[in-house]
Amino acid sequence: MKGVTLLVGCIAALSCFASAARRKNVLFLVSDDMRPQLGAYAGRHFPSRVSPKMHTPNLDALASRSLLLGRAYVQQAVCSPSRTSLLTGRRPDTTHVHDLIAYFRRVGGNFTTIPQYFKEHGYATVGMGKIFHPGMASGHDDPVSWTEKYFHAHSKYWSKYPRYSWYAAKESEVEKHPLLDDITADHAVATLKRLAPAARSAERPFFVAVGFHRPHLPFFFPARFLKYYPEAEIRLPDNAYAPVDLPEIAWSNFDELRSYVDVKNKYGYGAINTTLPPSKVLQLRRAYYATISYVDSLVGRVVATLDELGLANDTIISFWGDHGWQLGEHGEWCKHTDFELATHAPMMVRVPGETDGGVVTDRLTEFVDLFPTLADAAGLPPVPLCPRDSSAVRTCAEGVSLVPLMRAPARRWKAAAFSQFPRMDVGSNVYMGYSMRTERYRYTEWMAYEDLPTPHRLPGKVYPRGHVELYDHDVDPDENVNSAADRAYSAVVARLHEALLAGWRAALPPDVTRT
Ligand SMILES: *[C@@H]1O[C@H](CO)[C@@H](O)[C@H](O)[C@H]1NC(C)=O
Ligand SMILES: *[C@@H]1O[C@H](CO)[C@@H](O)[C@H](O)[C@H]1NC(C)=O
Ligand SMILES: *[C@@H]1O[C@H](CO)[C@@H](O)[C@H](O)[C@H]1NC(C)=O
Repeated sequence: MKGVTLLVGCIAALSCFASAARRKNVLFLVSDDMRPQLGAYAGRHFPSRVSPKMHTPNLDALASRSLLLGRAYVQQAVCSPSRTSLLTGRRPDTTHVHDLIAYFRRVGGNFTTIPQYFKEHGYATVGMGKIFHPGMASGHDDPVSWTEKYFHAHSKYWSKYPRYSWYAAKESEVEKHPLLDDITADHAVATLKRLAPAARSAERPFFVAVGFHRPHLPFFFPARFLKYYPEAEIRLPDNAYAPVDLPEIAWSNFDELRSYVDVKNKYGYGAINTTLPPSKVLQLRRAYYATISYVDSLVGRVVATLDELGLANDTIISFWGDHGWQLGEHGEWCKHTDFELATHAPMMVRVPGETDGGVVTDRLTEFVDLFPTLADAAGLPPVPLCPRDSSAVRTCAEGVSLVPLMRAPARRWKAAAFSQFPRMDVGSNVYMGYSMRTERYRYTEWMAYEDLPTPHRLPGKVYPRGHVELYDHDVDPDENVNSAADRAYSAVVARLHEALLAGWRAALPPDVTRT
């Protein structure tokens, strides 16, 4: 039946041949502050002894038709630096975006972004919700990236709502006053329907970017999602303390969470090795899980539209969360650290005809890899690897295409994934915590940032060793003990110090051309 309809359609449109060479569309899905706490990641890729079984049927179904990156790491665990890095394919030392204010085109260079690249190759590029960090940090959603006016959902009702850290909205309430992400999902469905005819007739493929705000604080979600997480099943983390021997510079005081009225000034000031009381921890964990299930349902709604429109086999889908989240583990909250929990984030890429049976890789991958991956999967000209100083190079990436992993998920790949996070001490000295995840270890050095030339990791130059962290994931997967000062690890520390200075280029997959 379907074949007949398609045939008739293509005779009518006289585009049978064109459609054979038709370019694939891209649906670019983003969520905010979502750690890989999804059914598809449970077990090996997001081990947790104390979390409930997640209800994420839509993301799990997408994962089962995608390349699931079991271990993808963000380059800096906070919104704008991470998104800017992914969207330009360049690391924070190159974009110079480390906060929520700087705009890469002003402080880094006039770099081509992922949607801009698709626009330059004839795509309709349409963005909505949170893709770039809104406001100044993106020159108001980076207009050059899109072929249409950018869309943001608004709600007078919810913008006036008290700033609680979480809220299970009554069904009658959300019916009357849809939550922002519901408005965004509706807009996404309408946009796909509008762009489908031109995409189907091969007149113009689309790149539609849909950015959900949740599960970012405040955790506002329709109350029906609580039923998947009975109160009695919610557990406290079993490591609600700062790692042994953690240098204080590595600690984040979770001031973001402490700005909400139900937390503010009530439970201390985020000092190292303090956290929230158990009752509050349990509430927040439950609300976070429910918010993830809420976003999962929205993803399902948008993805189902592709099926309804008959575009599922013609559309590449990527999904990612902009970084991880600490939910009371280490006593920490939010992101803003170099810990595994903050830097490890979900990412999956569906390429029809390549990943239909579902492919899972354990290889270390990075968010800067998505730009070359999507270009590769869509058959656009390859995005070249950036030279050492790429400030004047418009189009390049400091990552590599993940397409080879779709065919051989266990092939040799990157030796390490790199992240960083800046921190100021009480004397206003700025440090950069450069962190590296290898197969077995997480290794972090906090370097005096102002002393570092740009680009920072010049071979042969030895920086003064600052505070150092080493976590041995073979024996300490939760990163509870900093073993950097343990003499049993001195050879490991020396080796990882050199590898950190050698940087990401030295850790590329063996068969990738270096510049
Ligand atoms: C930045 O690049 C875009 C195209 O990639 C161009 O239209 C724009 O004029 C450039 N801006 C500056 C300031 O060079
Ligand atoms: C935090 O507290 C735990 C448990 O009391 C202790 O083992 C650990 O050394 C402390 N960490 C720091 C950095 O003070
Ligand atoms: C999409 O592709 C899959 C795998 O090649 C195939 O089984 C399925 O029938 C296709 N669906 C449509 C609607 O063409």
